[in-house]
This record gives sequence, C-alpha cells and structure tokens, in this order.
Amino acid sequence: MESATSTSDGAGMETGAAIADAVRNGELTREGIVRLLEIADPEELQKLFIAADAIRQRFVGSEVFLRGIVEFSNFCRRDCLYCGLRLSNRDLPRYRMEEGEILAAAHRIKAAGISTIVLQSGEDPCQSTVRICRLIRRIKDETSLVVTLSVGERPLGDYLAFREAGANRYLLKQETSSPELYARFRPGCRHEERQQCLRHLKELGYEIGTGNIVGLPGQNTADLAADLLFIREIDADMVGIGPFIAHPQTPLAPCPNGSPAMTLKVLAVARLLTRSTNIPATTALATIAPQGWRDALQSGANVIMPNFTPVVYRGLYEIYPGKSSASTNVPDFPEMLEQELRDSGRIIGTGSGFRKRQEISG
Ligand code: 5AD
Ligand code: SF4
Repeated sequence: MESATSTSDGAGMETGAAIADAVRNGELTREGIVRLLEIADPEELQKLFIAADAIRQRFVGSEVFLRGIVEFSNFCRRDCLYCGLRLSNRDLPRYRMEEGEILAAAHRIKAAGISTIVLQSGEDPCQSTVRICRLIRRIKDETSLVVTLSVGERPLGDYLAFREAGANRYLLKQETSSPELYARFRPGCRHEERQQCLRHLKELGYEIGTGNIVGLPGQNTADLAADLLFIREIDADMVGIGPFIAHPQTPLAPCPNGSPAMTLKVLAVARLLTRSTNIPATTALATIAPQGWRDALQSGANVIMPNFTPVVYRGLYEIYPGKSSASTNVPDFPEMLEQELRDSGRIIGTGSGFRKRQEISG
C-alpha cells in the first residue's frame, strides 16, 4: 500500500529515491512527481526544497535576474472564469497606455539597470500588429532592452512580425494542461490552440515562457504533474507558477485560494525537471504569502519582476485582488532588495539574462 502523505518509512524512502533521481538526471515519472507534490512531512519537504535550491545553484548560479514589467492595457476580449480582467467584469475601469507612456516606463527600466522589459496586456483587440511592432522597434531603438511580450494568443503572422520587429521572448502560460479544466475555465478557448501557439513561438526563435495556476477548483496533483511534464516537453525557457487567487468579481469568487505550500512544491519540482530555466518568484505567491517571494527564491526561483506600470494604472490591472499592493512585500528596489539578496548569498544578475543551458562551472 502506498501512503499519499509519505508518513511511513517505506514511502519516505521512495520519496527520497524520487528526489535523488531528479537530482541525478532531471528525470521523474508522473507518479514520481505526484509523490513529491503530496509530501506532507516537514522534513521531507525541506529535502525537496534543498534539492531544488542546489539544482538552481548548479545550473543558474546565485544571480537573481530582474525583469521590469509594464502592464500597458487591461482590455481583454476573453472571459476566463478566474481572471479579474475578463470581459464580463463590467465594473472594472479599462485603460490603454499611450505609446509615449510605455516608452517612458521603458526608459525608467533602463535607468534602473534592468536589461529586460516585459510588455503585458489582456487580449486587447485594439493592439494592432502595426501598433505593437512600432512599440517594439521604438523600445529597441531607444533603449536596446531585451523585449518580452505577454499579449496572449495571436495569429502566427503576428508572432512573426513581432519577432522581426525585435521581440526576444514570449510568455504564454498554458494555465492548466487538463483539457477538462481548460474548457471549464476558459470558455471559447481551445487547449490545443494554446499549445500550438507555444510551438509556433518556439519555431520562430523566441525564448518561450509558460506555466500554470496552482489550486484551480477541481484540480488535483495528477493534473499538476501533467502541467509539469508539459513544461518540460515543450522545452520552456521560462516557467511561471502562481497560486489561484479568488477574485470577487468573477464566478470563482467563493472558491478557496490555491495553497502557497503546494505552489512552492510545484516550483521546486519544476526546477528539478527543467534545471536551467528562468523561474520567477511570482507576484501571485507574494500576494497570498508575504514571505512567498523569499521562499520561492530558496526553492528554485531565480527571477523577480518589479512592476513599472505607472501608479495611476496599477490598481486597475487587477487580475486577482491584492496584486498591486503585493509589490510592497518585496523590499524597496533596488537598494533594499540588493542588500537582502546579498544577505542570503545571492546577487542581482547582470547581462541580458537569457537561458544558459549548460551547468555553471566552478
Ligand atoms: N489567480 C491567479 N492567477 C491568475 N491569473 C489570472 N487570473 C488569476 C487568478 N485569479 C494569471 C494567469 C495569466 C496571468 C496573466 O495571470 O496565469 O496567465
Ligand atoms: Fe484575459 Fe488573460 Fe485574464 Fe484570460 S487570463 S481574461 S486572457 S487577461
């Protein structure tokens, strides 16, 4: 008999063996992943986090890369049941930043010594291909920042045009790899299409980021294991993992939030499986667990994404409640943050922060 909570010695040994396998060769079966996600014993949990932290050190070192995020439009044509930006949320005032405002934010990111800008928005139908391409070109010309886009599902031709305009990376979380959960929570969207978008992006030479939401209603550890195996199969360069947070103006308002502990377990296993990827300590985790970003950095994460959205708009990019104030859980950037990272043996990353696939020597 197997123990789901790994409390018996036999199950503990199997958990230890699963961690050892993952550390040795980055291989885990779906059952092995489920076993790790179901660890309840605090000592075993610590072993998992220490193993993930060691793999992080071996493959990406002590650098913590910063990416400055600008949420430039909160319009969205989609109606995802979990998200505060959903079309049906008529109570949310909508905004669209002017090109000049976005450029000013890009210059602030550059001035802060950060090398990457993340341009994020809902699926805003008014962001035409031409408009986004012009924005990318101007940012590149004026700042030479690495440009990461996170603007949702678009036709292949758009991805090609953005790439030709100079975009380097693209974030598109798969959200959940369970076809049932996907269909339930993302009405009108098709799971295969999202995966196809990620494949196209990869073929076009983008660094791709994907990831999932942990704790969606009805999701179990086997679903999370499938998410992790997909992240690995698609060979993602960046992996974003955040807990579900119930938004009061959505149909999922009465549902419980995802658990910070499970989010950290998923993150740690993602590090064990994917080794050299860039993994952020997500704002969603910092929102429901004030120490969440520190815990994430000690369980496999190596990226922080400071928010450069102008304060006037920040409260309106309310994907989930508490998001805009969560950044105050992270020490003031850059001085305090630098100090804190140094105290825990980490440094702010320099250079462009692309994924390096090989192990760090020395
Ligand atoms: N809780 C947590 N994450 C959410 N997202 C959207 N709504 C929520 C929520 N209620 C995440 C999705 C999306 C990203 C922009 O925000 O993963 O990809
Ligand atoms: Fe729009 Fe993304 Fe929110 Fe879905 S998750 S409603 S696509 S912003």
